[in-house]
Amino acid sequence: MKYPLLPLKPKVAFFSTQVYDSVFFEKYNADFGYELDFFDIQLNEQTVKLISNAEVVCVFVNDVVNESVIRQLAEKKVQIIALRCAGFNNVDLEAAKKYNLKVCRVPAYSPQAVAEHAMAMILTLNRKTHKAYNRVREQNFSLNGLLGFDLYGKTVGVIGTGNIGKAFAKIVNGFGCKVLAFDIVTDSEMEKAGVTFVSLETIFKESDIISLHCPLNEKTKYLINKDTISMMKNNVMLINTSRGALIETSDVIHALKKGKIAYLGIDVYEQEEKLFFKDHSEDIIQDDVIQRLMSFPNVLVTAHQAFFTNEALSQIALVTLGNIQELLHDNILTNKQALLI
Ligand code: NAI
Repeated sequence: MKYPLLPLKPKVAFFSTQVYDSVFFEKYNADFGYELDFFDIQLNEQTVKLISNAEVVCVFVNDVVNESVIRQLAEKKVQIIALRCAGFNNVDLEAAKKYNLKVCRVPAYSPQAVAEHAMAMILTLNRKTHKAYNRVREQNFSLNGLLGFDLYGKTVGVIGTGNIGKAFAKIVNGFGCKVLAFDIVTDSEMEKAGVTFVSLETIFKESDIISLHCPLNEKTKYLINKDTISMMKNNVMLINTSRGALIETSDVIHALKKGKIAYLGIDVYEQEEKLFFKDHSEDIIQDDVIQRLMSFPNVLVTAHQAFFTNEALSQIALVTLGNIQELLHDNILTNKQALLI
């Protein structure tokens, strides 16, 4: 879609930029005509000083957008904080309101991308394809240690049935699983499609696989902890593609050591901002918790890549630039879910 060009050329300062961000944003910016200023570093109290004459800052999941940063943004006359992601737990919305900044996000750029990655994690952990691939390349054709289970007929618990949880429930439904769901709002369409809404406790007690798709907030922080783990079935599989702090990692490590949790797939990690999206292959990693996690043969860690598809990056760029356009022109967004403040 072509948007009318603004009379002036507003500047958008991007933080935590990777090469692929600039490729996709520059491609779609041809229709918008903004000045794009890319910084590869994270936005925080120090780096905010790099911004000069920008109307908009564009941030990602691990940028720090707390009160101090927001105050400095307001002093620099920034008008909009545009998140190029769905989750917004890293932004102090109250402070944004106080300093009169607009905050927008991309609510549903490709729920399928994240849902499909969650399923990829389940299949990999179950059928150990990552190990089989390496084995066969070493001419080891033995099957010992690769035993999996049929997904068909297993009970899958989905926590959070928004855009991603819904897409994920459809996928597991297609595999012939029994799908249980918990959300603060029940979805009648999903119920018609065969999903049973139950209490959180029932999810924990009855699921063979639990997948987290709710946002991180004060109610969901450490949702997975020693008490909730104790309710779970032995040999449960836990998948988290949502936010790291939904899980109390030390309790999960304890449960992995005891064998209570038999499989863990995480695309997010509470301390990920110090590690993810960077090449640390030559470094000595100081985070002993992630090192312990990666030492388990039944743990699969990916570095916040669930969203990472061509379709999702195109949508992120288009919707983010469209949000900025609408806010600068009309101070309002057509997509109500995209406007946070
Ligand atoms: P959404 O806003 O469409 O859905 C979230 C759902 O969680 C809503 O149905 C809401 O009612 C529910 N919810 C809220 N509080 C809850 C609670 N206490 N217990 C249970 N459910 C609760 O969000 P969407 O697009 O489905 O994304 C979900 C999360 O996935 C995001 O918040 C984000 O953290 C994460 N995400 C991860 C990505 C990745 O690459 N790994 C990419 C995109 C999103």
